[in-house]
Amino acid sequence: MTASPNSTSLSRPETISLFSLTVACLTVLANTFQGDGAPLVASLALSGVAFSATFALIRWLGPTFIKSGLKGVDMSKHHKREIPECMGAICAVVYLLVIIVFIPFPFYKDIVAATSGGGNRDVILQMEHVQQGRLLHRFPHGKLASYLSAIISLQSIAILGIGDDLFDIRWRHKFFIPAFASIPLLVVYFVDFGVTSIVIPIPLQPYFGELFNLGSLYYVYMAGVAIFSPNSINILAGINGIEVTQSIIIAMLLALNDCLYLLTPYPHPATDSHLFSLYFLLPFLGVSFALLWYNWYPARVFVGDTYCYFAGMVFVVVSILGHFSKTLVLLLIPQIFNFVYSAPQLFGLVPCPRHRLPRFNARTGLLEPSVTPWTPERQPKKPIAWALKLLHQFKLLRVTLDEEGKFTETSNFTILNLWLVWRGPLREERLALEITTMQMVVGLFGLFVRHRLALLIFNSDNWGIMNT
Ligand code: UD1
Ligand code: MG
Repeated sequence: MTASPNSTSLSRPETISLFSLTVACLTVLANTFQGDGAPLVASLALSGVAFSATFALIRWLGPTFIKSGLKGVDMSKHHKREIPECMGAICAVVYLLVIIVFIPFPFYKDIVAATSGGGNRDVILQMEHVQQGRLLHRFPHGKLASYLSAIISLQSIAILGIGDDLFDIRWRHKFFIPAFASIPLLVVYFVDFGVTSIVIPIPLQPYFGELFNLGSLYYVYMAGVAIFSPNSINILAGINGIEVTQSIIIAMLLALNDCLYLLTPYPHPATDSHLFSLYFLLPFLGVSFALLWYNWYPARVFVGDTYCYFAGMVFVVVSILGHFSKTLVLLLIPQIFNFVYSAPQLFGLVPCPRHRLPRFNARTGLLEPSVTPWTPERQPKKPIAWALKLLHQFKLLRVTLDEEGKFTETSNFTILNLWLVWRGPLREERLALEITTMQMVVGLFGLFVRHRLALLIFNSDNWGIMNT
């Protein structure tokens, strides 16, 4: 970086690099019109453009956001400077524009086929055919409906996320916001796919049969995933970079999973849904890497709730419409752990302060677990006190008692604080790096479980079917 942190204009090397990247991507994009349209290449090219646009816009618009009151204080620094917040809004807008521009690409072949006689542009159509709706019955309207429903869901979550960043909606109200955003997806799932059965593991098959139909409960489960994914990313937050790195890791692992299906001989039944997933993940990675550039330690911008919700919803969109929501659940294991571990504070058994991010020790420059203070008058009830002490014994919490055995402090229930209880005080970027590495290792293990270990308890894996 040659530009100073406060500079709002791009440095010359940055301008040259972004300009070259954009020109190269636009050239590749223009070339995809020759041949069959090559939608995957077009998606990659547009993702490059999305990176450049987000990179430049974050730099240019930072001060405008601060002027409009979208700013936050970085609590883990010596100098408590205000920096722009809600930069996820820029990512969301760029992403949505790119996804909209991309609409014709995956349908290029179908548009040609539906409008000029089976894809052969030399065929001269008879007048009566032209009047019969230009053979549009051949067009995959279902696929387009999936695509459009995904856009509606992502637009809704972006609007709601920006609303949250502007008005700081109360936690218990905003928790359900993503459920509304998921309705278009669930409707398309119902019409288009409609499978509500789950495969029963081999040991349980004598009791439940091979398939178990969850019926409408399956939709409740999917709405649950839609509520969980965005919120879980928002509460695994509070140190520079962590919201973006966890999202990038999950997106890359989902993309890796998609690529496994592309490597199988076409036409595999799941290839199309995994291609669809890549079309949504690649531009997401484009905007996220640009955001990470600014949000990594020492952060020059905050991502805001908009980014956390948006990222979580991108995963929901691809996994519901790609029919692999259970794989997503495996990739969200650290987030699930963080949520379950947070439950005592989220559900009010232990007081929950507005912020639970790790505490910055200005003397050492290191992060320590943040704590909830207890007073002699306000002590946890007996069973809770017992549970807190038990967690302390298992090193799952840090509890401080006074001489009389009364609670004075308990560390806050987040995975970031727990990590600090285990590892001792750490520098902020070190903590972010370690949590990100853990996310990657656990995610890779999740994918391994999905494709290999699952074969121990299920008859087959839908990727393995074609490979073995
Ligand atoms: C969630 C967490 C909260 C955590 C916060 C941090 C729950 C229930 N809520 O709340 O405990 O403190 O995220 O994002 O678990 N900030 C930093 N450094 C960072 C990132 C954020 O200091 O690297 C601070 C800034 O002051 C920023 C603020 O956190 O303005 C953003 O918090 P916000 O996203 O509004 O908090 P919530 O999502 O409501
Ligand atoms: Mg937040």
